Amino acid sequence: MSTYLITGANRGIGLALFKQVAAKSENTVIVTVRDETKAEQIKKLGYKNVHVIVIDIGDTLEAFEAAFKSLPELAPNGFDAVIHNAGVLSEGTMSKFGDHKLSEFQRVWDINFLGAVKFLRSILPILDLNNKPVKVLTVSSSGGTISEMVFACNSYGASKAALNYITKEIALERKERGDIFVPIHPGVVDTDMTTELKGKYHLISAEESAAKVWELVDKLTLEDSGKFWSYDGSELPY
Ligand SMILES: NC(=O)c1ccc[n+]([C@@H]2O[C@H](COP(=O)([O-])OP(=O)(O)OC[C@H]3O[C@@H](n4cnc5c(N)ncnc54)[C@H](OP(=O)(O)O)[C@@H]3O)[C@@H](O)[C@H]2O)c1
Repeated sequence: MSTYLITGANRGIGLALFKQVAAKSENTVIVTVRDETKAEQIKKLGYKNVHVIVIDIGDTLEAFEAAFKSLPELAPNGFDAVIHNAGVLSEGTMSKFGDHKLSEFQRVWDINFLGAVKFLRSILPILDLNNKPVKVLTVSSSGGTISEMVFACNSYGASKAALNYITKEIALERKERGDIFVPIHPGVVDTDMTTELKGKYHLISAEESAAKVWELVDKLTLEDSGKFWSYDGSELPY
């Protein structure tokens, strides 16, 4: 019997992640979606062990804190794993630096980086209500790698590199508590985000990505905390 929290669960990788753990009725799964319509879509799936919280990742820290007020009651024994998955791709991700719209740097930063900061800030005090060590995965991307960058990902890559930084920072801060914080690359996955890649690259299914991510969650130990992981269990360079 385990308790999970997953953001961005209404489609793509988040939907596959949540369905795979919700399929075991003894688990408790708390998911976040952007609005009520999407909450209704999840509720219609009929899982009795799934609770839906509505929060737009672009909203304020205060809105996150208000949305998560029910978490201590929904997860009285703490969490086994938390996956911050919600994110956006930039328009013209692989364009030349000078061609990438400034407005995209702002939009993608607000969701992929500041959204993650607010999510993590609001969740940490809730994790501290319980002594149980937790595994927290932030869904990053190999496109955020700096040391072995082979192609540019502009605002998307920069937002994920920054996400990696804060995830590692929190990993260091919370290692003594036994918490495991890791950024992960979920693979190149067939979702709405990769429509433009279809037919050009080999895409794995969201179900395959999610299954491997859960395998990774099971395997992660405290020694692995603060490292950047691929969904297939290999370590990636920052
Ligand atoms: N697909 C890939 O190949 C790939 C590769 C590397 C990394 N990733 C990362 O994996 C994660 C999931 O991607 P995906 O491929 O599953 O993409 P997706 O199908 O586009 O799903 C994105 C999810 O994030 C949610 N989201 C976006 N903006 C939000 C906001 N402002 N507030 C609340 N929720 C918001 C979406 O909700 P709505 O439906 O409400 O928009 C949706 O649930 C992302 O962080 C992405 O960067 C994906």
